[in-house]
Amino acid sequence: MKLSGICLLLVEAGAQALGGQEPLRAETKHLTLTHDLIGLHKNLTSIESITGNEKAVGDWLYSSLQLQGYKVEKQYVEKEPARFNVFAWPGVARESAKVLVTSHIDTVPPFYPYKHHNKTISGRGYVDAKGSVATQIVAVNNLLSSGKLSPNDIALLYVVGEEVGGDGMRAANALHLTPQTVVFGEPTEGKLASGHKGNLMVQLTAKGKAAHSGYPWLGRSANEVLVKTLAALMELGAELPKSDKYGVTTLNIGHMEGGVASNVVAQDASASVAVRIAEGTPSFIKDEITKAVHKAVEYFLDDGMKAEDVIDVIFPTSGYGPIDIDSDIPGFEAMTVNYGTDIPWLNSTVEGQKRYLYGPGSILVAHSDHEMLTEAQLEDAVVGYEEIILHALAQTSL
Ligand SMILES: *[C@@H]1O[C@H](CO)[C@@H](O)[C@H](O)[C@H]1NC(C)=O
Ligand SMILES: *[C@@H]1O[C@H](CO)[C@@H](O)[C@H](O)[C@H]1NC(C)=O
Ligand SMILES: *[C@@H]1O[C@H](CO)[C@@H](O)[C@H](O)[C@H]1NC(C)=O
Ligand SMILES: [Zn+2]
Repeated sequence: MKLSGICLLLVEAGAQALGGQEPLRAETKHLTLTHDLIGLHKNLTSIESITGNEKAVGDWLYSSLQLQGYKVEKQYVEKEPARFNVFAWPGVARESAKVLVTSHIDTVPPFYPYKHHNKTISGRGYVDAKGSVATQIVAVNNLLSSGKLSPNDIALLYVVGEEVGGDGMRAANALHLTPQTVVFGEPTEGKLASGHKGNLMVQLTAKGKAAHSGYPWLGRSANEVLVKTLAALMELGAELPKSDKYGVTTLNIGHMEGGVASNVVAQDASASVAVRIAEGTPSFIKDEITKAVHKAVEYFLDDGMKAEDVIDVIFPTSGYGPIDIDSDIPGFEAMTVNYGTDIPWLNSTVEGQKRYLYGPGSILVAHSDHEMLTEAQLEDAVVGYEEIILHALAQTSL
């Protein structure tokens, strides 16, 4: 008891000697921070958290951060089933922390259990994005423990729903955070992403008229309408805008279904398509797609019919164009990535706000059945996050 009192006095005296700076040890003495990277990563990734089912991992993360001495808040995105973002800050500054580190706690399906063998870890979400979550927390903890980071300069935000439309990050705007730098965690192979392609979803619903397959002229096959439309879209794909930075705009027909049996003219058919935008705005791409679809179905139109009578083209999200990201930190390689992130959903609230995208592991294995990471990649990412956070603080204190 006595000893700790003396230590505290010594620390405060040391701080005085440094010219009245805040006594960092006193500031962090309420914290019991973990530095067990592999254990934290294992605990996070052993809990299934496919989008929509993030409650268990959110509860675990909430209590882990709370036990470590962070102030923690659950921000509800949905009440039933309960889905919430986990927002934590170690000091007294909640909204005004200079640096926000953030990633997502949901994963794509299906769940693969935790495997750790020969310093290699594999399974669902181990890269995307729980590798980022664990390494961010340990990086922040290391900097707090060593006194290189003041608790009032940092906050952590872990959101739900990144893999399906970003509802968690959209909701996070209501937290009214004002960080000068936001560090987003996604797999970037330890490089800084200088930008990513834009994204647009397209939903096509063909409307047929059922008839006996022996008398197809009495009906209209929704399958034929859809197939002709998709062929036209694949041709359009090659003509969509390109850029030097992001390459070509690509189009993926990710899902299609139609009809009921081979001897029935199909009444219904539908497909969903994802467009990764290299150049141009979503509204330009939407117009091009709508025009191509309408032209493709002309063949099916009888007198007085409109394209809308045989097919609906719906854009379920507003979409976004390519997103440029800061990558101006010395010592880091920069690259562009082709996947979407939560970055466009978090409104910039501070003029000149910096945004970085960084994390361990490769996107080439994320979403696959062989998602894997090595212990060394995780440890390197902790060092990378520490450097990014320190760089951000040095910039904002200029
Ligand atoms: C992981 O979970 C185990 C079991 O609950 C616990 O003993 C351990 O402290 C946890 N470690 C971390 C770093 O969260
Ligand atoms: C363990 O991993 C290392 C490096 O990836 C490899 O060289 C070695 O053969 C592996 N050993 C076993 C027993 O799998
Ligand atoms: C901030 O983001 C929300 C949700 O994405 C959006 O509805 C809102 O219009 C944005 N506000 C500003 C000022 O951009
Ligand atoms: Zn991700």
